[in-house]
Amino acid sequence: MHIDIITVLPELLESPLGHSILKRAQAKGLLEVVVHDLRPYGLGRHQQVDDYAFGGGAGMVMMVEPLANCLDELKAQRAYDEIIYMTPDGQRLTQGIANRLSLKNNLLILAGHYKGIDERIREHYITMELSIGDYVLSGGELPAAVLVDAIGRLIPGVLSDETSALFDSFQDNLLAPPVYTRPAEYRGWKVPDILLSGNTPAIEDWRNEQALARTRERRPDLLEDDE
Ligand code: ADE
Repeated sequence: MHIDIITVLPELLESPLGHSILKRAQAKGLLEVVVHDLRPYGLGRHQQVDDYAFGGGAGMVMMVEPLANCLDELKAQRAYDEIIYMTPDGQRLTQGIANRLSLKNNLLILAGHYKGIDERIREHYITMELSIGDYVLSGGELPAAVLVDAIGRLIPGVLSDETSALFDSFQDNLLAPPVYTRPAEYRGWKVPDILLSGNTPAIEDWRNEQALARTRERRPDLLEDDE
């Protein structure tokens, strides 16, 4: 999979993309992420990328021209399955959306800044708008990193034990069951006997029950969700 990200703050994306699973995915050639600095597409001597909002109001707006030029250049190089704008007023990112996006070949993610981007870019280029939650961050870079992480780990071959992503919380609309590792007893705190029993079908049943109980208690909304 190839992912392009447009941003005015490329540095903010370096660390999240350069470590752990995303680093491994890129090293294995399963994922290619290219971060594009919008600044060189800025206008004039100061390479301006933002301006005051028409009609007044606080905050700057990312200008249509630098964004359109950058998007045109990238679109001439490849056919994107989706051009995604990270924004608090977008559709809420879910595991289901991440699953679907992980099957695509080419994604372009636009990380907004300031008060947002000129609406004409949303009308003429953006095919999908995603929010990572009902709170406002100072830019779309961290949301873009969240999205790439959620997608990247689902690409076949990225996780060493491929099945592990299938048992994550939210797959099947269930939260994950509790997990334990050695020692089997610590300060008198014991690991449930069933997990030490070696009885695989019984362990599977226990995990399913725990996942359901945990979901009922913490996120009953997931059980009502038919998505
Ligand atoms: N940009 C700022 N806040 C955001 C959010 N919650 N989700 C996506 N993009 C954002």
